[in-house]
Amino acid sequence: MLYSTLLALLQAATGVLAANSWIAPGAVWYDTDGKKIDAHGGGIVKRGDTFYWVGQSASNSETPMMYSSTDLLNWKNLGQQASGVTGLWRPKIAKPNGSFWLYGQQDRYVLSLKSTDQAGNYKTVNKVHLPPSDYSYSDTGMFYDEASTTWYLLTSADHNTVQINKINSDGTVGARSSVLTGGAYEAPGLFFANGLYFLIVSGKTGWRANPNKVFTSTSLSGPWTGGSDIAPAAQNTYGSQNTFELTVQGSKQTTYIYMGDAWDSKGSTGSNYVWLPMAVDAGKKSVTLQYHAMWKVDVNTGEVSYPSGSKRYAAEEAVVRKRDGVGKGAGNKLRTGDEITFHNVTGTGALQWLAFHYTVNNPEAGQAYITINDEVYPTNLSDHNSRAGYHSQVPVQLVLDPGHVNTVRIGATGSSGKFCHLV
Ligand SMILES: *[C@@H]1O[C@H](CO)[C@@H](O)[C@H](O)[C@H]1NC(C)=O
Ligand SMILES: *[C@@H]1O[C@H](CO)[C@@H](O)[C@H](O)[C@H]1NC(C)=O
Ligand SMILES: *[C@@H]1O[C@H](CO)[C@@H](O)[C@H](O)[C@H]1NC(C)=O
Repeated sequence: MLYSTLLALLQAATGVLAANSWIAPGAVWYDTDGKKIDAHGGGIVKRGDTFYWVGQSASNSETPMMYSSTDLLNWKNLGQQASGVTGLWRPKIAKPNGSFWLYGQQDRYVLSLKSTDQAGNYKTVNKVHLPPSDYSYSDTGMFYDEASTTWYLLTSADHNTVQINKINSDGTVGARSSVLTGGAYEAPGLFFANGLYFLIVSGKTGWRANPNKVFTSTSLSGPWTGGSDIAPAAQNTYGSQNTFELTVQGSKQTTYIYMGDAWDSKGSTGSNYVWLPMAVDAGKKSVTLQYHAMWKVDVNTGEVSYPSGSKRYAAEEAVVRKRDGVGKGAGNKLRTGDEITFHNVTGTGALQWLAFHYTVNNPEAGQAYITINDEVYPTNLSDHNSRAGYHSQVPVQLVLDPGHVNTVRIGATGSSGKFCHLV
């Protein structure tokens, strides 16, 4: 028997959204062509006023993809970066000796590629195991150290030990600077703040999320100490795994951004992204993800902001149709077969954010689905946002008809098909 609870409020952000105006962790993120961004296990560099995001394609055999943006919200697809290169996991950008390089893991080797341009035409240069002991490895991370103007490759060497290697000026992987001992970790990322290096890593649980941790050191030579969670343990890093830390140095403040992947069960095309600002405390040597369902950072000032001025549709005002024909109006408990209908929802005619507020007792066994204007096939909310069911506010981007004319239905399904309760 399945008991799920949904608390349904519908919130339509006002304003026409031809462009993305928020980062919504876990939500499907569309590029400027309206396609889902396909750059997983990625990282970012900034050149001039442009950010470049490189990651592995889930839809095309882990070939490296690149996107560019000037606001971290709207990303233009710059396409595949290396003709014929597939199976390159967690690619990262670096620029030793003035050239443009990508580094990633292929067959447990470091594959390095080089181009004369930031975007496109990357060609394979080297395929090597890691110094000093010919280690194979899994996850790739990257860090540029301003103090030494040197790039560092982060890896999970021998599949277990996070290791930091200098990248030589000729692009080869150089000497090991330090190693994080005392646990099996992967997915390393690094940033520098207030005199401390912060190394963020995940545990090893396959595609399933776990509580990611932070270690600190005053030097890239180590030793690394710590190991505190960067989010409440039960949240499993808000359903994500670290891939990169981005520093946005603005005129008013510096904002440190956690970039994580919300992998689906196979690391495939259903995977999304969880980006969040971090509270960094050098005194306590701690990092805390600042969870917000929607947020953005001003890339000029560095300031973080959140939406306001949205329209709310309360479940109490909606029409509830129980599967056995009884009940309408109040009562926002839904079982499988029940539907709650919001009439006259305001649409813009373009992609816009709707935030669904509800909870599910057991998101492994129950799902919420939506239909817009009686479309034939309902869509599971989890297809739009990997946070669906796991968090009480789930923003998704949808196209509604223009005007106060839309009908949005929410229903619940469950594997046992018997009782799916909305509260
Ligand atoms: C930097 O790159 C140039 C051009 O490829 C090369 O001639 C030079 O040897 C490189 N310098 C170092 C220190 O590797
Ligand atoms: C929708 O709005 C129209 C007027 O704009 C109103 O006549 C109608 O009753 C509304 N429908 C519902 C179901 O509230
Ligand atoms: C939605 O989820 C339910 C329950 O997991 C599943 O049976 C159904 O096939 C899903 N629908 C779609 C369109 O994926």
